Amino acid sequence: MADKYTVAIVGAGGISSAHVAGYNKNKEDVVIEAIVDPIANARKNFQDEYSVKHAYSSMANLFNDFVPDIVSICTWHSLHHEQTIEAAEAGVKAIICEKPMAIGSGPASMMIEACNKNDVKLVVSHQRRFTPGWEKAKQLVEQGLIGQPMFVELKALEGLLNWATHNIDGSRFIIGDPKTNWVFGAVQRTTNKYERNTRIEDSCMGLIHYKNDVQAFIQSDLKNYDFESKWATNHPIFIRGEKGALDISEYEVKFLGGNSSGWKTIPADVPKELIEPIGGETNGKLVSELIQWLEGGPEHRCSGVKAKETLDIMMSIYQSARINEKVIFPVKENDYPLDLMFEEGKIPLKTFEKYDIRGFLNRSGIDEKDYNRLKSQNLSHHEIMRQVKRS
Ligand SMILES: NC(=O)c1ccc[n+]([C@@H]2O[C@H](COP(=O)([O-])OP(=O)(O)OC[C@H]3O[C@@H](n4cnc5c(N)ncnc54)[C@H](O)[C@@H]3O)[C@@H](O)[C@H]2O)c1
Repeated sequence: MADKYTVAIVGAGGISSAHVAGYNKNKEDVVIEAIVDPIANARKNFQDEYSVKHAYSSMANLFNDFVPDIVSICTWHSLHHEQTIEAAEAGVKAIICEKPMAIGSGPASMMIEACNKNDVKLVVSHQRRFTPGWEKAKQLVEQGLIGQPMFVELKALEGLLNWATHNIDGSRFIIGDPKTNWVFGAVQRTTNKYERNTRIEDSCMGLIHYKNDVQAFIQSDLKNYDFESKWATNHPIFIRGEKGALDISEYEVKFLGGNSSGWKTIPADVPKELIEPIGGETNGKLVSELIQWLEGGPEHRCSGVKAKETLDIMMSIYQSARINEKVIFPVKENDYPLDLMFEEGKIPLKTFEKYDIRGFLNRSGIDEKDYNRLKSQNLSHHEIMRQVKRS
């Protein structure tokens, strides 16, 4: 055991199972030793399900007992930066923090600084960079199949920070993580909308201009596309290049070239039915690349520095709408521009009732006995949380 990296997972909710799957794919190198969650029943269920030795109600209690080598931060967005900094200062070697990295460019910078200062490797869980479809697309772009990429088109739903973070980040991976020159954005928020207790927009769009002159356009919550049949993905990426175009999902790539008579499907290197965009091999490869990084290998493809560029782009879509100008990089606004716009009266509400599109996941105040009853019927965590009795 002593020669393995010890792991603690913070937050025993929905996404924690994907992190467990990722660590379990690397069992020869890592061992999950602890779970942290303020809800006793959540800790107990997690311990029983994954045979984890230790459970703590807070990170402070964990670090009083021992400091694991790796910490996974699987809590809601607004906790990510404080918990990352707490773990970095406690002396862990690496952190895998869930997306979105933080709520604001300032907190994200503080996370990177704390990790640099304490020699901690920071990874943000944009795990879809490891899906075979996106890896294939990157390979095809690098081989020159579409020539120089010129324009990227992205669509997302359910909040910029929630879904769009994946395909903004994934498209950046495919075209080689270019540096951003400027971002121009538009935002609508007339309803009192939240996602995991973070204020979000009704809809938005943004034009991103990279330093290499490639542009990307993202529209979020403007078109309710049929991802089951047409896109076969929640995170479509379309790239037009000098010599052709790629229509990319996590599962496969479609190519349209100058001389072809129509779209040609290029399969990924893994059969479609075996690809899991969350958990399984995808999270397994994310963990394995982190171990390589810890052992002197190259920077992780999902490093905090790479994720911050994606976060800065999203913050700049809001900030551009706030100031009615392009946001020139590097970003200067540290706070969350959507909150600032709201406080400044720039996005007045037309309907006032607060609603949270992921509010059903809130575990405080649920009837934990009823949770266990539903769990014994083999319902998934999300199914349980939609049905469980609340006080
Ligand atoms: N990478 C992906 O594809 C992906 C997919 C889903 C969710 N996520 C992200 O994962 C994060 C968590 O989402 P979720 O759906 O798992 O939420 P969830 O509500 O299912 O789980 C959160 C857990 O954190 C616990 N918690 C609350 N405060 C805590 C604290 N101070 N310390 C420790 N634990 C605490 C809660 O009790 C709960 O069990 C979000 O930021 C979300 O965006 C990422």
